Amino acid sequence: MTRRQFVEAASMMGAVGLVELSGCARPHDQAVLPAPPVASLREVGASRGILAGCAIQIARLRDTPAYAQLVREQAGIVVEENAFKFTQRLRPSPTEFFFGDTDYLVQFAEANGMKVRGHNFVWHRSLPAWFDGYMTPANAEAVLVEHIERVGGRYAGRIHSWDVMNEAIRVEDGLPGGMRDTPWRKLLGDGYIDSAFRTARRVDPKALLVYNDYGIEGEGDKPAAKREAVMALLRGMQQRGVPVDALGVQSHLDAGRGDVYGPGLMAMLAEVRAMGLKVLLTEMDVNDKWLASPIPARDAGVAEVYGNYLKTTLADPGVIALLTWGITDRYTWLNGEASRSDKLPERDLPFDVQLQPKPAFFAELEALRGAPRRG
Ligand code: XIL
Repeated sequence: MTRRQFVEAASMMGAVGLVELSGCARPHDQAVLPAPPVASLREVGASRGILAGCAIQIARLRDTPAYAQLVREQAGIVVEENAFKFTQRLRPSPTEFFFGDTDYLVQFAEANGMKVRGHNFVWHRSLPAWFDGYMTPANAEAVLVEHIERVGGRYAGRIHSWDVMNEAIRVEDGLPGGMRDTPWRKLLGDGYIDSAFRTARRVDPKALLVYNDYGIEGEGDKPAAKREAVMALLRGMQQRGVPVDALGVQSHLDAGRGDVYGPGLMAMLAEVRAMGLKVLLTEMDVNDKWLASPIPARDAGVAEVYGNYLKTTLADPGVIALLTWGITDRYTWLNGEASRSDKLPERDLPFDVQLQPKPAFFAELEALRGAPRRG
């Protein structure tokens, strides 16, 4: 059997596995086959005791076998971009839950020996249409607790880590402690965070409970102020005996802006470690909108940030996981966000739209290879 035949056969087996899971065959997509992989982030990460993986999109996992195959090869841990969030899809009404996507994700991950992250229980965005009209200060606590009990409880023991709270800090909002002015906080006050973590621990004692945020990576006053507020939140939680196990550093970065990742970030990672908490790099991508159009220069600029940032952060032994927010530019969320002025698609992730590895992939691989082995 030639290498190509082997890869094709392996890919078809993957497709069959997918069909069994979804009950829905898409034969035309099986013609799209991935090129032989160069190396596996998942395997290199594992050799250093680091869980390497990515955010995925379930719809694409279901309908594009080549993408599913790439995820299998590269990810030792996965998270779904939206499926676990408190959204209209997961929560069609105050009394209903839709678990079709999350069940599929957890089964896919387990069938392929991957860990799964839960993202997230509490966030200020993507809330269901009924939220504002239904929620009151009187019922909010019960809704939050029931949500965590039902969603967390369904997958208890099977989730590596839960982002219990996503993005609770926004210093510019001017609130005490740098708290973000969120819908949940308006209903429940600052206590909503403690309450969510306590409920999550009760419901799924095995999952690492994570506080996850962005904008805490760079040097300069703004990231430094946000880091300080995040650390104060974590210290306060520990003092109150609130069960928090890890800090999630989202790591949505920019190329071409001269951002530096150094002393401020490393001091935070060291302090988190001294507090007995772990660190996960949860959502890495490198926005190339500040770079001029030619692709080689953009790819080099993005890879440089991957390399610099990861060589810096992975040197801290408290960093146990690294996930990019997507794996291929074909499905990057950034194309729907702050897009480039030249309207070209973003090239922020390790693989390109053809599912081929880019310089960013090799930079990530090299940083993982160079990381000290975790115990
Ligand atoms: C993004 C998803 O990728 C998009 O599909 C969705 O439209 C908006 O949310 N920080 C987070 C993630 O914590 O939940 C966000 O995910 C990206 C930024």
